[in-house]
Amino acid sequence: MKILVIGGGGREHAIIKKIKENKAVETVFALPGNGGIAQDATCVPIGACEIEKIVEFAKTQKIDYAVVAPDDPLVLGLVDALEAENIPCFGPRANAAIIEGSKVFSKNLMKKYNIPTASYEVFNNMDAALKYLDTAPIPTVIKADGLALGKGVTLAFTREEAKKAVVEAMQDKKFGKSGESIVIEEYLEGPEVSVLAFTDGKTVKPMVSSMDHKRSGDNDTGLNTGGMGTIAPNPYYTKDIAKQCMETIFVPTIEAMNKEGRTFKGCLYFGLMLTKDGPKVIEYNCRFGDPETQVVLPLLESDLLTAMMATTNGTLCETEIKFRNKNACCVIMASEGYPVSYEKGFEITIPEDILSSVYIAGAKEENGRLLTSGGRVLGVTSIDETLKGAIEKAYCSVNRISFDNAFFRKDIGQKALKATED
Ligand code: AMP
Ligand code: GLY
Repeated sequence: MKILVIGGGGREHAIIKKIKENKAVETVFALPGNGGIAQDATCVPIGACEIEKIVEFAKTQKIDYAVVAPDDPLVLGLVDALEAENIPCFGPRANAAIIEGSKVFSKNLMKKYNIPTASYEVFNNMDAALKYLDTAPIPTVIKADGLALGKGVTLAFTREEAKKAVVEAMQDKKFGKSGESIVIEEYLEGPEVSVLAFTDGKTVKPMVSSMDHKRSGDNDTGLNTGGMGTIAPNPYYTKDIAKQCMETIFVPTIEAMNKEGRTFKGCLYFGLMLTKDGPKVIEYNCRFGDPETQVVLPLLESDLLTAMMATTNGTLCETEIKFRNKNACCVIMASEGYPVSYEKGFEITIPEDILSSVYIAGAKEENGRLLTSGGRVLGVTSIDETLKGAIEKAYCSVNRISFDNAFFRKDIGQKALKATED
């Protein structure tokens, strides 16, 4: 089989490595991929949002199955465009990807179908938003409606911070069109859990839970990033909570999307906060998370491609999805200065024996050398019987990888470890 994977980060590298475990896979193309992914797939320099070029490429190459991994092409309708040419795809159509593409849509969906989430107000007018903030409970959360490269959310601890975020989104157009509408919502507290779930629109099968580490610095200090590391499973996500989430969040969301005529197929990502009033949805993503994928897929015992195809064919109900009863930890190595500004072009050295557990996010190949080319450069994942062991092994690998100006958090998994010891 010829497989096409759209995207070029650590998540896509993890997806490709896993897909290749299926013996029927002959060729994997990555569009655009990256210098590290090039060791596992044929990279073609077509951008993830170049819809027409991608469709043309898929037709010419007679692709058997396409996996659309990033949010932007999903929201733009790449799956619709490929399906129109009879190329089966993993991922939701545009009318379902809106669950991530518009926060106003997802908040209104949850309200309409009684899915637990933070209470909120929607504003299309700046003056009304600023007036509301004169009396709104503080802290509060300001969210740009559309996609904003993960930067559209502001946690405001004072009225001034909240108003500044509103002005930046609505007047200064910091996020372009994405900030024309905003959501102002209740500030929630509690441990956060990421749950990715396969769904074919009828059945939903959650994967092993995970915990992201979004801030750039140790102990959750510093700026928000795309994610500096992950562990799985998330110890806060007990069997009881999982059951509750299935009944009050996962199944109702799939049913709500069907009732709206927006059947969701692919991977639905539930960003959850375990509040004292029960689990609540913080956000939906219409795709695999990055770097959650880098801990979830290495724990997947079943065949990934079979699971993906089952979401397309509507056969998820009869498809076994099994996870290893082990722990995984992924530590991201970034370029010093990320997420603001950083230098690139430094040579990366990775010992041969750990290559299989390294997922390259930002690197290019030049004359046989791998050079840094992004903020998040790579992730290293280790698996062990215990969380403590997985963390130790991951850091042991990190210490064997080198490039100039490398930086990484030293405390990935520590909060989770403490939760297991409490
Ligand atoms: P997002 O960009 O939607 O992933 O949000 C970034 C982070 O903001 C989340 O991972 C949460 O830690 C935090 N966050 C989002 N919404 C809320 C909320 N209503 N209350 C508290 N924290 C939130
Ligand atoms: N790790 C969070 C995300 O993929 O959006």
